[in-house]
Amino acid sequence: MKIGVVGSGYVGLVAGACFAELGHDVCLVDNDRDKLAALQAGECPIHEEFLPELLQRHRGKRLHFTGNLVDAVRKSQIIFIAVGTPPKDDGDVDLSYVESVAADIAGAIDTYKVIVEKSTVPVYTNTWVRRIMLLNGAPPELFDVASNPEFLREGSAVADFLYPDRIVVGAQTARCFALVAEAYRPLTDGSYYEKSDMIPGPVDGHFKARLIETSTKSAELIKHASNAFLAMKISFVNAVASMCEVVGADVEQVCEGIGSDSRIGRRFLRPGVGYGGSCFPKDLLAFRAVARESGLHFGLLDEVARVNEDQRHRFLRKVKKALWTLKGKKLGVLGLAFKNGTDDIRESPAIAIVKSLLKEGCRVTAYDPAAMKRAKEEFPAGSVKFASDAYEAIDGADACLILTEWEDFSALDLRRMKQLLRYPIVVDGRNLFKPALMEAAGLNYYSVGRADVVSTRATVTSFMKHAIEEDEAA
Ligand code: UGA
Repeated sequence: MKIGVVGSGYVGLVAGACFAELGHDVCLVDNDRDKLAALQAGECPIHEEFLPELLQRHRGKRLHFTGNLVDAVRKSQIIFIAVGTPPKDDGDVDLSYVESVAADIAGAIDTYKVIVEKSTVPVYTNTWVRRIMLLNGAPPELFDVASNPEFLREGSAVADFLYPDRIVVGAQTARCFALVAEAYRPLTDGSYYEKSDMIPGPVDGHFKARLIETSTKSAELIKHASNAFLAMKISFVNAVASMCEVVGADVEQVCEGIGSDSRIGRRFLRPGVGYGGSCFPKDLLAFRAVARESGLHFGLLDEVARVNEDQRHRFLRKVKKALWTLKGKKLGVLGLAFKNGTDDIRESPAIAIVKSLLKEGCRVTAYDPAAMKRAKEEFPAGSVKFASDAYEAIDGADACLILTEWEDFSALDLRRMKQLLRYPIVVDGRNLFKPALMEAAGLNYYSVGRADVVSTRATVTSFMKHAIEEDEAA
């Protein structure tokens, strides 16, 4: 098929590369000349597993980058709109990019096309896109507008696209649905998974992706409701973790117990410093705004956001509990990205926590395997030191703080960690270690929803070791 994708951000770039991987001819449109030039020159602008391989495999063959929207529309049977929908101050989203692309597409339509909303948008956007296209002269018999939300997670977006739990297509006509379904056929009939050079995924053997046909409004709601539900699951487990801390229970044991109920499931029950990223915080507010506009009070969503915000404050209180006073303390921070596997720092709890620590007068040395370049732009020059690895970040620090769930951090050598730290204190906002292991390593360990490990002996020994070292140095 000939497919156009408008917008080469996260969603557009991954979708475009994956549609090319499925055998389609893809034209990726963007109006950012620098971005286009970089993509044409072979760069991969985001840190995403398998994306560089796909771009390399299909660039200039089945995947083309262009600034010419009209040309791309004329060549394509389906045009996916994947432009940004940034949040506004009131929690609603700014749909002006979607509107302007829809208007431009309208002027270019010469044969029947399906326009697909791929960006995360509130319910009724489909209706509006159709209306805008008609107002801009698109003949009604020459187009349909479908809703096909994406459920990609950053860090595993390519695998999520190629091995989806479900593909949701909201369409108003059978012709429109059939065309969008055809684009995904190699996934739904399983033929992609028989290819020798397929991108590896989480399933073995035969797999057929599930296709769900819905109305356009249902498809739009599915996206917001899915993200709101997942965010709710995280806030729920974080609130349970706080409860565990108060009563002296262990959140890992509690999660094992509740997650074993197949109706609840184990996934997305990891307590921590709260969710971040470009999706959950924004989508939750947008969903709430849609509810409000429809005259509904969806108070549960307010509570989900409140618990999430509170989680950062709780972490800061833990740091204070471990160190008593913060002014002048030297902290080694591990993790800046909003989660592992990505260089994205948008709405990252780690960045917010570091900012609060700086306000308290702490000195921070940070390390992240992927997000340092982006993080550097977040802080005034010189306010945060950046280390070249985790050990350098904690060298001589009064405490080590873990803020992102990178697997590399859970593989750190605890003995070396203890030797490097000035005080043997680790405050772990992601529960990467077993408390018993930290105790055995002689570290004081504060995590989420589990009992603190505080060993006076470890503290005294470490204090004496450093006092001797300082003496010797003097
Ligand atoms: C999320 C959804 O998972 C995707 O299905 C969706 O397509 C995407 O938003 C989107 O709307 O575009 P993403 O934001 O990439 O994906 O990241 P997640 O893996 O969902 O994690 C979100 C945040 O929740 C991270 O900060 C992560 O650390 C946190 N999290 C996740 C937890 O604190 N605990 C968990 O158990 C899971």
